[in-house]
Amino acid sequence: MKRLKTFGCVFFFAAVVGFTFSCISTGESLRPGAAWYDTNGRWINAHGGGVMHHEGVYYWFGEHKIAGWAGNKAMVGVGCYSSTDLYNWKDEGIALAVTEQSGHDIEKGCILERPKVIYNPKTQKFVMWFHLELKGQGYTAARFGVAVADNPAGPYKFLYSSRANAGVWPLNITDEEKIDNSAEFADGQFSGGDDDVARKMNVIARDFEGGQMARDMNLFVDDDGSAYCVYSSEENGTLHISRLTDDFTRHSGEYVRVFPKRWHEAPAIFKKDGRYYLLSSGCTGWSPNAARSAVADSIFGPWVELGNPAQGRNPYTGMDHSLTFGGQSTCVFRVEGTDTWIAMFDIWRPENAKYGRYVWLPVTFTADGYKVIWEDEWKLK
Ligand code: DGJ
Repeated sequence: MKRLKTFGCVFFFAAVVGFTFSCISTGESLRPGAAWYDTNGRWINAHGGGVMHHEGVYYWFGEHKIAGWAGNKAMVGVGCYSSTDLYNWKDEGIALAVTEQSGHDIEKGCILERPKVIYNPKTQKFVMWFHLELKGQGYTAARFGVAVADNPAGPYKFLYSSRANAGVWPLNITDEEKIDNSAEFADGQFSGGDDDVARKMNVIARDFEGGQMARDMNLFVDDDGSAYCVYSSEENGTLHISRLTDDFTRHSGEYVRVFPKRWHEAPAIFKKDGRYYLLSSGCTGWSPNAARSAVADSIFGPWVELGNPAQGRNPYTGMDHSLTFGGQSTCVFRVEGTDTWIAMFDIWRPENAKYGRYVWLPVTFTADGYKVIWEDEWKLK
């Protein structure tokens, strides 16, 4: 009996130790689609995120979600994690907190998605942009929000939110597209995806005075130090790429439309050997669809669409390239000092938002474009 008890205790102890270790990031590899834990053994909570490198440290910013359906609203803010090796992530806390103040743009319960941070060497500020929907207004506000900080992990101070480029036409619009025909569709409903109303309406003309819609977004800093915001606009029908002001806190008014009426979401721009690449998705809400890729020789285009770069299958979701492994793109970043670019995807879990998972895979460049090939486990070279 005593031996049995001792065995039981040893077994229990081993199980606890085993569980604890399996909950702490392994520190030696990336396991796309697996459960990822921080260095405290807690679930990594940084959805729709992006990674910024600064002075030897990677900072991962993302939506800090709570459990359940409620987690699709911003109840806490933007979380930040740091790492020097991209395997082990330390929780740096909440970089930008939502506020209890009623009527505030980032009032608790708003929708705050896809936060991204870039560093401005001239102002020495870290600048965060995100997609913002005002509390209680669904996805109709379609604004971008901006916050700044003196330190990479924050705290970030909210500056303002707005629609984009009010009163300014893009560089590549036709006279026909400038005609506001929205009155013809007064009773029409937008689905958020490819629908007849958005297809036929010149949404850009409708929104000319009040500013262009800005939903799924990302930031990109070019080699010359200019920064750009790419975002789903015009009821998600068309991407805009917009140059930012020198301090990175505003749209400059110089922008282009890319892939009109092709319904791209989740855009991420990256650059290798002088060529610009785009990774994005279609528009199907929280459900996965086929990833998209495109290439250009200039940031303002012309952009050429290349097709779905995904290859392989995610054993956790059972989904293959046709549904992007069950994920949706959120960022592509370069591993400092190497020829490795990492494509980040979210496996959304809207019914229990906090527990969405992460897929990070290396980008494989080809003669025409690039692929993102599934790996169960991989290491940086
Ligand atoms: C897809 C977007 O990419 C997400 O960021 C989020 O806005 C969902 N749609 C909401 O349905």
